[in-house]
Amino acid sequence: MSKKILILNGSPRPKGNTAVLIDSFVKGAVSSGNSVTRFDLEKMDIHPCLGCLSGGKDPKSPCVQKDAMDEIYPIFKEAEVVVFASPMYFWSFTAQLKACVDRLFAVMESDLQSSSGKECILLMPAEEDSEKNFAPVVSYYQTLAENLGWKDVGMILAGGLMEVGDISGKPILLEAEALGRSVV
Ligand SMILES: Cc1cc2nc3c(=O)[nH]c(=O)nc-3n(C[C@H](O)[C@H](O)[C@H](O)COP(=O)(O)O)c2cc1C
Repeated sequence: MSKKILILNGSPRPKGNTAVLIDSFVKGAVSSGNSVTRFDLEKMDIHPCLGCLSGGKDPKSPCVQKDAMDEIYPIFKEAEVVVFASPMYFWSFTAQLKACVDRLFAVMESDLQSSSGKECILLMPAEEDSEKNFAPVVSYYQTLAENLGWKDVGMILAGGLMEVGDISGKPILLEAEALGRSVV
């Protein structure tokens, strides 16, 4: 069975380590017959949440702010798997990805039930390669999944990567590809 996968790429570097991780993941996911939609959030006009609590009225465009989130909402609704792809920035997601996640709140104002039951995946490069370094963001990601009623189906935590190109040829790319392939 194939699945609809949504990739939210929070890296601002188009050829950075996150982008290379995503490419490997997609290679595996497509080889298993899944369909993939990827949004490179840095290129999109996505404003931070205003906290107005007034969204959810129009299910097709649930947020009061009208920007590029309207491209993501319909794909998010249909997605069975959501991939959070982001470099670690100060032990968290980048602002690009966090703004997008916050704006999904409007979908949940519209219909919380329709957003639950998804699977999710984390793809994250970082400079430091240690369990301690990844602990805060893993805790955040797991908390997010649990409270949204989503199932974590895999994390690629790729430490030791700082510059563009550092990930090239690393075995972690095979792990990302295998994770993509495992989505069925
Ligand atoms: C603003 C900023 C904050 C960062 N914070 C962390 C951090 O908290 N821990 C860490 O290990 N690496 C940190 N890094 C390093 C990035 O996670 C690393 O360079 C990553 O490989 C970048 O991915 P990209 O090539 O997709 O942009 C930070 C980098 C920047 C620019």
